[in-house]
Amino acid sequence: MNKFRLLLCVLFLSNLFSCKQEERTLTVNSPNDFNKIIFNVSEEGRPNYMVSHNNTKVIDTSYMSFEVKDLPAFSGDFKIIGSTTSTSDDIWEMPWGEQLEVRNNYNELIVNLQEQSETNRELTIHFKVYDDGIAFRYEFPEQKNLQELLITDENTEFNLTGNHKVWWMPGDWDNYEHLYNETLFSEIDALSKQNHPDLNATYIPENAINTPATMKTDEGLYLSFHEADLTDYAGMTLKIDNANLNMVSELVGSERLGGKAKVQLPFNTPWRTIQIAEKAGDLIESKMILNLNDPNAIGDVSYFKPMKYVGIWWEMHIGKSTWDMEGSQDMNTYTTGKVGTSRHGATTENAKKYIDFASQNGIRGLLVEGWNTGWDQWINTDDREGVFDFITPYDDYDFDQVMLYAKDKGVEVIMHHETSAAPRTYEKQMGVAYDFMKENDINSVKTGYVGAIIPKGEYHHGQWMVNHYQRVLEEAAKMKIAVNAHEPIKATGKRRTYPNAISREGLRGQEFNAWASDGGNPPSHLPTVAFTRMLAGPIDFTPGAFNIKFDEYKKENQVNTTLAHQLALYVVIYSPVQMACDLPEHYILDGKVHPAFKFITDVGVDWQQTKVLEAEVGDYVTIARQERESLNWFVGGITDENKRTASLNFDFLEDGKSYEGTIYKDGLDADWNDNPQAYEIENIELTKDSKLDVELAPGGGFAISIIEKR
Ligand code: NOJ
Ligand code: CA
Repeated sequence: MNKFRLLLCVLFLSNLFSCKQEERTLTVNSPNDFNKIIFNVSEEGRPNYMVSHNNTKVIDTSYMSFEVKDLPAFSGDFKIIGSTTSTSDDIWEMPWGEQLEVRNNYNELIVNLQEQSETNRELTIHFKVYDDGIAFRYEFPEQKNLQELLITDENTEFNLTGNHKVWWMPGDWDNYEHLYNETLFSEIDALSKQNHPDLNATYIPENAINTPATMKTDEGLYLSFHEADLTDYAGMTLKIDNANLNMVSELVGSERLGGKAKVQLPFNTPWRTIQIAEKAGDLIESKMILNLNDPNAIGDVSYFKPMKYVGIWWEMHIGKSTWDMEGSQDMNTYTTGKVGTSRHGATTENAKKYIDFASQNGIRGLLVEGWNTGWDQWINTDDREGVFDFITPYDDYDFDQVMLYAKDKGVEVIMHHETSAAPRTYEKQMGVAYDFMKENDINSVKTGYVGAIIPKGEYHHGQWMVNHYQRVLEEAAKMKIAVNAHEPIKATGKRRTYPNAISREGLRGQEFNAWASDGGNPPSHLPTVAFTRMLAGPIDFTPGAFNIKFDEYKKENQVNTTLAHQLALYVVIYSPVQMACDLPEHYILDGKVHPAFKFITDVGVDWQQTKVLEAEVGDYVTIARQERESLNWFVGGITDENKRTASLNFDFLEDGKSYEGTIYKDGLDADWNDNPQAYEIENIELTKDSKLDVELAPGGGFAISIIEKR
């Protein structure tokens, strides 16, 4: 062989080699290079990916495939037929939110795959890598002979690299109102505790967990698994393989559909997301889930103004009054059959009492539950279709008079639509119901879906309901109405596209403290929620209980935190609507408004910026938020059942300025169980250089308002 031929051969070989490498493996890094995805197609043509952070593997080789009805699976036999990469870096503004400006900075890789056998089907996988995590979605492009797919399983693997500590709740198809568990991955067991007596609907078919699921590795890295932009698809749970430290996406199904999701091509799935953080607080500051959603599609939403609200609500939950006027049911425990005298909560007189309290204490909103007829029937298990019409008030509730009185006192009424999980009725009546709201100048609605979904075979978190919740948002947006959904589909950042999706429940809220048979939410609940459920989006938790034990109504239940912890929640748990949930009379101390209520009056609900000052998942969290417009700061800190000292510095304050700080904290011997209402209020001057230690009682907390001296 002469020299020239040898050179040619080497060139040819190396070319072939690199070509082959390029064809089978592609990588993309985050802008700061710390997070990296390696995408690969195996020799058998199976797509898979790996994720690393700072050169340490976070997700090991994980395969991606789909099973579809009446067709071969999308699983092997793929070849890369094209790929593109690009970079994006821009800033957008939130109409309301945890901060005004959000930076959206990522690198992306789009890989086009095609099957090599005669089916020749195409599939695109779209990766985005951020400094705060990674995401990918599947895109089924328009293609010949394939218009529709009935997906019977999406199998996205998440192959973990260790037996991490996990904060998880069961992958229930109907309910997110479970307590979080903290266990090693190998110990996750969503099936063993199948008895959930306080849930109005629940279905946990296998050992799977709900998202967001948050983990901590032995090396101290935090990971949180979730999804973004859940549209026309089923919600995702994660099926657990304890022994192999592996998770696989398990979509919520539908017996009526005979599968998981029916999709029309072209179709993009939601993003599968992994937040990656070296500090627990960075999980909370991350805006990746929002960034993965499309920009605002509905324009101006200034008809909704972030607000605090009171309401005829807690009094039903603790059993002081009932939603229904007939008095035929025990609405306090949602059980049927107890015939009693009517103690209807939503009366004209009672509404006026709440309006007076709100207008005197700087609270803008009023929610009235039980104002419309139907509440005597709404929990009959099978006969819930059409019990509510959303326009007919009970006889003892003078709708017009309440509206006039509220207007006169400058209070905005929030509508309540309990659908009793009968979405077909709701869709029929939505138009009339929203017209009625608008005729009465009502701009926001709290919706609810208590009970098993009608029709049978559908679940709260399946594709059919995802589409229902979406239709509600779209119809409401057309009418300039903002929606706060209870028993919702999980938040996946859609509020960016539909900013009329203001808040939602989708967790074990305050109400469980009123009646749960297990005694309610333990003190560690919210220090866990802040790093799990809250990563999805705003929460209508309804804080602000001051009468912690409410023994007058219920001896066996109580709120399992201190009063100061309740105050801190206005800052810690983000929502643009925040309830002051307790009864007006419970906010009175020695004949006057409780001194600690001043914090609820003062605290902001719409923020310029947010900083997490201290954080450990499940243990404690302290957050500082700066209010839009006033630019005042508010700090909230909470702890679990362990007391602690929060060591704060205030370097977020502006240089050269002096601020008046008011600290609301646990009294010296406060304790969530023994002495929950002991509190202290202290005034101090604060500057950028101030340092402060605050003692938190077991189950305790603190709140600080920081107002610039002018
Ligand atoms: C459950 C909701 O979470 C709660 O806030 C509401 O009071 C009841 N349903 C009645 O709609
Ligand atoms: Ca009690």
